[in-house]
Amino acid sequence: MSEIAIVGAGTMGHAIALVYMLGGHRVRLTDSNSATLARAPALMSTALETLSEAGEVGPEMRDISVGQAIRLCDTLAEAVGGADVVVEAIIETAEAKRTLFAQLETLMAPEAILASNTSQLDIFPLVPDSLRARTLIAHWYTPPYLVDLVDVVGGPGTDPAAIETVRAMLAAMGKAPLVFGKFVPGYIANRIQAAIAAEVYSLLDAGLVTPEEVDLSVIHGLALRLPVLAVLAKADFTGLPLVHTVLTNGSYVPPAEPTHNRTLEHLIAEGRTGVMAGKGFFDWGDATPADLFRERDRRLLKLKQALRGIKPMMGA
Ligand SMILES: NC(=O)c1ccc[n+]([C@@H]2O[C@H](COP(=O)([O-])OP(=O)(O)OC[C@H]3O[C@@H](n4cnc5c(N)ncnc54)[C@H](O)[C@@H]3O)[C@@H](O)[C@H]2O)c1
Repeated sequence: MSEIAIVGAGTMGHAIALVYMLGGHRVRLTDSNSATLARAPALMSTALETLSEAGEVGPEMRDISVGQAIRLCDTLAEAVGGADVVVEAIIETAEAKRTLFAQLETLMAPEAILASNTSQLDIFPLVPDSLRARTLIAHWYTPPYLVDLVDVVGGPGTDPAAIETVRAMLAAMGKAPLVFGKFVPGYIANRIQAAIAAEVYSLLDAGLVTPEEVDLSVIHGLALRLPVLAVLAKADFTGLPLVHTVLTNGSYVPPAEPTHNRTLEHLIAEGRTGVMAGKGFFDWGDATPADLFRERDRRLLKLKQALRGIKPMMGA
């Protein structure tokens, strides 16, 4: 059992805290915004309830009060002092992260590891020299208590032992840590998702398709094959000459340069920013974000449980 400090209790932080708690660690959670910190226990309880209903946590965890099991800390010093691992899950700006890392330099225990959840920033140049050997990225996917992939990568000066400590800790909690040799902004899964998004938004911007047509095509066409064949095994099944011909024809390959996403800009300007606003591409009605998260999680769990008996195919 280790002492884990999570800094940032927003969309990711509270949920990562829950995973570490369920993994048997002692967890402290802090946020510079007291309202966000105060909201975290209810979100964690709802997620724990959903996991319990689906039989994903043992009976010993079912009745646990997350508000008591996870220590909410008003100050950074209280959260990170004496922690073995500090998870950074604050806003995605280089300046905010640089300022936090400078504070952590004096507050963290001398051997403690700093694990950043950054989505795409190369955080290593932002870290003070004295922390470099102990700093790495451990990048989770939302919701982290359901999605198993965690991208793990060190910087030029990271001690391989720190990477191994975090990798082993994640694996012991049932996660699927993928250790990268080099930092790749956006990692792999997010880059593939970004390529899909670029194509979808260009189709929408061109007025060729509707949001419903996009999501129905993915749900009924693309999605079912992905858990079993992913991308490259699927290409093997298609036949590589055909894959090559389609690519070289280039007729529907996404543009290499970033495009101006008019569709997205229009929705955002109208306040249609997504589930948190109750509307985005779709109207989400009167349900609260917590209700919608719960419903999403229940459905993902059903899929996950159904897929457990089906092994992916990757060669012989
Ligand atoms: N949302 C996702 O799906 C997702 C997935 C993977 C990685 N990430 C990454 O995780 C990090 C957090 O993202 P999020 O979506 O949870 O953001 P969020 O905005 O929901 O939460 C960030 C929280 O950090 C707090 N904060 C800001 N500065 C702070 C500081 N100095 N000390 C303590 N708390 C501070 C804010 O008050 C906020 O509550 C980002 O680096 C993001 O790129 C997000």
